[in-house]
Amino acid sequence: MKIQFQEPAGDFTDGIEVIHRYHQSFFTRGAQLLALAQAIDQAGLNEERALRLAELYVFYRQAGPLHHLDEERALFPLVVGQDLLLDGMLERLALDHEEIEEAWRVLVIAVHEVLERRQVPEKFLEQAARFERLQREHLIRENEDFLPRVEGLLASSQRRRAAAAMASMRGLKPGLT
Ligand SMILES: [Fe+2]
Ligand SMILES: [Fe+2]
Repeated sequence: MKIQFQEPAGDFTDGIEVIHRYHQSFFTRGAQLLALAQAIDQAGLNEERALRLAELYVFYRQAGPLHHLDEERALFPLVVGQDLLLDGMLERLALDHEEIEEAWRVLVIAVHEVLERRQVPEKFLEQAARFERLQREHLIRENEDFLPRVEGLLASSQRRRAAAAMASMRGLKPGLT
């Protein structure tokens, strides 16, 4: 069975809205990943857990890099160089992205081991928990400190253009999913 990636963005009419929808999706998937990793760690693997892990893998493999590109290429450039506090935030958020991507690369090795060899590495739960925690803390930072500030700075035409840039990175037309 082929598992399809479902685009969380809905549509691409407002770049900030796309970011919010991805964040909601990451919160939900993060909780699912943690619960699933705990279940696999405690009760081992069965077909249903393997399928759910494969679905989460497909989601993160696509959504993770896309979301970081959306922010770094379509959003951050719109607000860089306007105030020192915000510039510091952008730097910190981009470093977070690297840390999250590194935690994902480590976790993926364990996920392949589980899905392809039906073996659960000793550190699987620890690695899943680290990835989930880094991602969640980053999302909270963005939602509470960064996005409210950015929303106050961007005109609706800029939000529309950011969404168009995000759509084009996916080979889509703005406004479509
Ligand atoms: Fe981010
Ligand atoms: Fe984000």
